[in-house]
Order: sequence, then C-alpha cells, then structure tokens
Amino acid sequence: MQFNVSAERPDLFKTDLAIVGVFKDQQAGAAVRALSRKTAAISAVLKNGDFTGNTGELLLLTDTAGLSCKRILLVGCGKRDKFDRQAYRKALRAAFAWSGKKGYADAACYLGLDSVKGADVFRRARIAAETWHDAAYRFTQMKSKAAQDDNGKKPAGPKKLIFAVRDSKAAAAARKGIKQGDALGQGMSLTRDLANLPGNVCTPAYLAKTARSLARGAKNMSCKVLSEADMKKLGMGSLLSVTAGSDQPAHLIVLEYKGAAAGRKPTALVGKGITFDTGGISIKPAAAMDEMKYDMSGAASVLGTFKAIAELQPRQNIVGVIPTCENMPGGSATKPGDIVTSMSGQTIEVLNTDAEGRLILCDALTYAQKFHKPAAIVDIATLTGACVIALGSHHSGLMANSDKLAGKLLAAGRAADDRAWQLPLGKDYEKQLASNFADMANIGGREAGTITAGCFLGKFTRDTDWAHLDIAGTAWRGGKDKGSTGRPVPLLLEFLLNN
Ligand code: BES
Ligand code: MN
Ligand code: ZN
Repeated sequence: MQFNVSAERPDLFKTDLAIVGVFKDQQAGAAVRALSRKTAAISAVLKNGDFTGNTGELLLLTDTAGLSCKRILLVGCGKRDKFDRQAYRKALRAAFAWSGKKGYADAACYLGLDSVKGADVFRRARIAAETWHDAAYRFTQMKSKAAQDDNGKKPAGPKKLIFAVRDSKAAAAARKGIKQGDALGQGMSLTRDLANLPGNVCTPAYLAKTARSLARGAKNMSCKVLSEADMKKLGMGSLLSVTAGSDQPAHLIVLEYKGAAAGRKPTALVGKGITFDTGGISIKPAAAMDEMKYDMSGAASVLGTFKAIAELQPRQNIVGVIPTCENMPGGSATKPGDIVTSMSGQTIEVLNTDAEGRLILCDALTYAQKFHKPAAIVDIATLTGACVIALGSHHSGLMANSDKLAGKLLAAGRAADDRAWQLPLGKDYEKQLASNFADMANIGGREAGTITAGCFLGKFTRDTDWAHLDIAGTAWRGGKDKGSTGRPVPLLLEFLLNN
C-alpha cells in the first residue's frame, strides 16, 4: 500500500473514492461543508434519515455531479464530543475494511486527520496507517490455492491511500505518523502471521529462518542462531530440559540492531518462543489445546518489533533474544521432580513441566545480561493462564524490578492503545517458590500464579532493570474470529522509540 498526504480540498480532489467522516449530531465537519457547497447529495441523505452517523456506519454515494471524486463513502463517527481514539479507530476500520475489497485505483481519506492540528496530527496519522494494515490483514496461507482464489487472496485495492490534512505543517507531522503506523502495521502483520501458523509449520527452525531473513534484508541488523550444542556449552540446563521430549531442535535466536554508538548500552527484548505447548509430561487437557500454537507470541512480538525497527532505523541499540523449542512429552522428556541447573548456576526443581516458559526464559535472560550488558531488559511471554483470569484480554500483565521502567512501559501502552497493568512482586510471593530439594521450584501453587511466575524470572535479573509482560490474554483472541492480535508490538515499539 502506498500512503500519501495531501492538503487538497475534497471538492477538487480527483479520486476514485472520497472517504468522508460524518458526525451523528449533524454538525458538519470541514469536508462535508466543502462538498455540500457543490452537491446536495450529502445533505439529502442526512435529512431523509438514510444515514444517521453511528460510529462505523457506511453509506456509498455515487451521484457526484459537480465534484472531482467518483464516489463518496460516508463514514459515521458517532457524536462529536464522544469522538475519542476508540471511535476514531472503529470508524477507520469500517471504512478501510469496506474499501479494501474494492478494486479502486486510489482513495482519499477525510476522516479525523483533516480537522486536527499539532500533536494530534502525528498520533491520528499513525493510527490511520496502523488501522489500514489491521483492516487489510488476512491469514490465508494455509488454505489450498483454490480456496485462496475464491476468498480473494489479497484485498483488491485501492493501491493508493491519500490522507487529507489541513495545511503543509500538518502534512509534515502526518507523514511522520504514517511512516510509523505503516512500519507498526507491517510488524504486527508479521507477528500475527507467525502466531497464526500451526506448530507443524512454525517450528523453532522456522522462527530462526524468519529472524535470519529479517536481518539479511535490513540495515544495521544482524542475527545469530545458537544450537543445542552451543546452549549446552553455556550451561543452559533449564532451557534444554524443556526441549528434551521434542524431536525438533531448540534454538536461541539473537537479533542485534545497532542504530547508535557502539558504547551505548542496548535495550534487550526477550520473547518466549514455545512453538507448541502440550504441557509435557504434566500434559494439558485436550480441549482447546490447539491454541497452544500461540505460545510463541512473545517471540513473534519481538520479531514484529524488529521488523518495524528495521523500517524506522531509530538511533538506538536493541537486542532481541528468543529462546525457542517445543514442550512435548516423550521417552526422554523432563519428569516432574527432575532438578535442572540453569545458566545462572541456580538449580530448579521442575514440579510441573507445564510451567515451561519461565524455564526457557531464565536462561535467555541470563544470556542477554552476560553477553549484551543491556541498560534494561523486557521479556514478553504468554506465561500464565492465571493472567487471563486476572486481566482478561484487555491489559497485558506487567511486573518489574524498576518502577521507572514499569512507568515507561505503562505510558507507552497508553500512548499506543496497547495497555498493560502492573502487578506487584516481592518476598511474600517469592516464598511460594521454595523447594525442599533445589534452589527453587518452577511453580508457586494456585494463588497469584501470574505473580509467582514473575518472581521466578526476577531471580534471574537481580542486577539489571527488568520488566516482564505476561501477554497470555492479549496476544490472541478466541471465538469466532480467533487469531493473533499482533499485541504487544504497539507498546514495545512506542517504548523503544521514546527511549
Ligand atoms: N503457555 C501456558 C500459559 C497459557 C495458558 C497461555 C492459557 C495462554 C492460555 C504456560 O506454559 C502454562 O502452561 N502455564 C501454566 C503454569 C502452571 C502450571 C503453574 C498455567 O498457566 O496453567
Ligand atoms: Mn505450559
Ligand atoms: Zn507455555
């Protein structure tokens, strides 16, 4: 998709489709007023009640005599005083989903961006480009060729989307916002593709291949993939205990982006990459087990964020570390009660093989600190079912050993409409991880399951500013349109760009 910006008046704009926002209270916005000076078509449908302006309502007008556009798509924006970011996103998504199915050469968007000034222009432009990608997203690569053709593999058009702004000052801000939103949308689409792919396709090797090709195609980016033998040499007994029952080789993927001076400490992102979580010997019930293909969503969000970073080239150093393997039962699988030694030297009693995410993350966290000396580490993981119970699918769970870092991530989540909510850590909870036989157990009982998982990771990040995002509830949605959401790429990108 080619995004452009223009300050052209809507009545003079030559386009296949003018997308025009209309408020419910009939206080016409600038675009409606300009068009209405030359056509009665809009006022007619507003007067006769054919269009009420509810948020996301659509009506196509084809009588455009006297205007330069071939069609007008009226898009309801709800009440003007209730037009918040949520309403803006909803109206845009409706318009883009509709126009994305048409074969028009271009479309000009007079919705929300043409009426604002200052910082709002950047933010709304970013949202608009992001929303275009969201509305256009399809996951069809696992359908047969015939089925893909029937459904229309790619949305037909338009090829060009022009966002209208009020003046040239707004145009500059809009271009910046669109660039970010475009990069964000592409990153989220990669994250969604990877997470939606089934476990028999998206294996640890597949994630490694994706990371390599991402780095190959980008400036200032490199990728290294560690094998099981490498990990054994490093003493990653905890990570390797999770992959013991699987026939797929485990990997540790390391992505490096260097956009700043070599001396500047990087920010590290560490993403859980369990490409399928059966639970291992502590096997999960059959119902909905298929959803455990999403258990690499943390890894996918790191890759999606790196895709956006590759596009935007910020002046930052960033490292991504992705421990990836399957969690399978088998003759050589780890058994409940087995004790393993992590790269940090701390020993772990594996009381439940289904609490595997923390077992791969702890060694990746140690690796990131030892070899990259980051200024801050953020890990991202579909770590606990308890987080879905606590926060549902609206907020990601956030835990941190630094209130400053937590504050930055919470603020980034609010700014990007990809929210997180902080949960506490601390000694009282940490005690639940006590083991009679090893330095710690890998589970802490039924109470506060999300927090004790966070406490476990905290034992491996004592000397670095660290935060943990539990995205079990936010990374994917169930139900009729089940699939990956692409979260928390918006939060992560916002956080990195503000750093
Ligand atoms: N991948 C799961 C967490 C999960 C569960 C994500 C449901 C999304 C939906 C994780 O590996 C897991 O199995 N966690 C256990 C931990 C327990 C054994 C302490 C859980 O949440 O049940
Ligand atoms: Mn598990
Ligand atoms: Zn898991």
